[in-house]
Amino acid sequence: MARVVVVGSINMDLVTLAPRFPAPGETILGDRFVTVHGGKGANQAVAAARLGAEVALVGALGDDAFGAPLREGLAREGVSLEHVATLAGHSSGTASITVAGGENHIVVVPGANAQVTPAQVERAQAALARADAILVQMEIPLETVEATLRLGHRLGKPVILNPAPAQPLPLDWLKLARYLTPNQHELAILLDATPDEDFLSLMRRAPAPVVLTRGADGAWYRDGGEPTHQSGFPVEAVDTTGAGDTFNAALAVFLHEGVPTAVRKACAAAALSVTRLGAQGGMPTRGELDTLLAAQA
Ligand code: RIB
Repeated sequence: MARVVVVGSINMDLVTLAPRFPAPGETILGDRFVTVHGGKGANQAVAAARLGAEVALVGALGDDAFGAPLREGLAREGVSLEHVATLAGHSSGTASITVAGGENHIVVVPGANAQVTPAQVERAQAALARADAILVQMEIPLETVEATLRLGHRLGKPVILNPAPAQPLPLDWLKLARYLTPNQHELAILLDATPDEDFLSLMRRAPAPVVLTRGADGAWYRDGGEPTHQSGFPVEAVDTTGAGDTFNAALAVFLHEGVPTAVRKACAAAALSVTRLGAQGGMPTRGELDTLLAAQA
């Protein structure tokens, strides 16, 4: 069983389903509203657990009405919460999400996620030292992202940096990652590139190996040689929220099988994840993933 440590955010997702996205200044009537558990860190932890990994999460919740149900949801999925703090006087992270035509718009308010500290990561050192892979994203303070990269590197553990939401990062931080997992847009921001530079050229000059997600088109990966393409798995998309998180989790869980296999499994898991509503709603179990892979073999 792979051991995965996730350092990242936990959010309550406030999801509105609408026939289309409103224009700026416009009000439209939506179809449905649901409250579901999300946050890139929590999503990656849940996806890895469903795929059979032993998972520990490092993060923070508020002591508001969302904190307890978010903690209970993670516990039900079997995620270890020893390093998830509940912070008095803070609200939990929220994401206001509009879903229309299978696409989404998201506004995140970090709340307690903004209080996840480098010291918290240091306190989780024993868990990181036991991990086969470490996942970190960018909905927590950048100093904590840096601390995770540095500690993972010092321990000789592969750290997968999912640079989302993206912002430019110092090259010496990026070099500490075993893999960067942006989409095309995020890679351009991360490397402070001009909009006309194509993603293959960005992948070639990135300071660490890149696994680039391309939605329905699958993924490209480069670990030294030339970029290689992995096709996507065709499915009917209901909600793409959390697809990237499922991809990252599967990459971490199957990394020990080699990058080509891990990327293929990550594309399959991400495809399954978009077939149901909610970031965590469609995340597959190991059995569901194996069934899809066997059907496509
Ligand atoms: O990656 C999807 C996640 O991004 C959502 O669950 C939302 O909480 C935002 O963090």
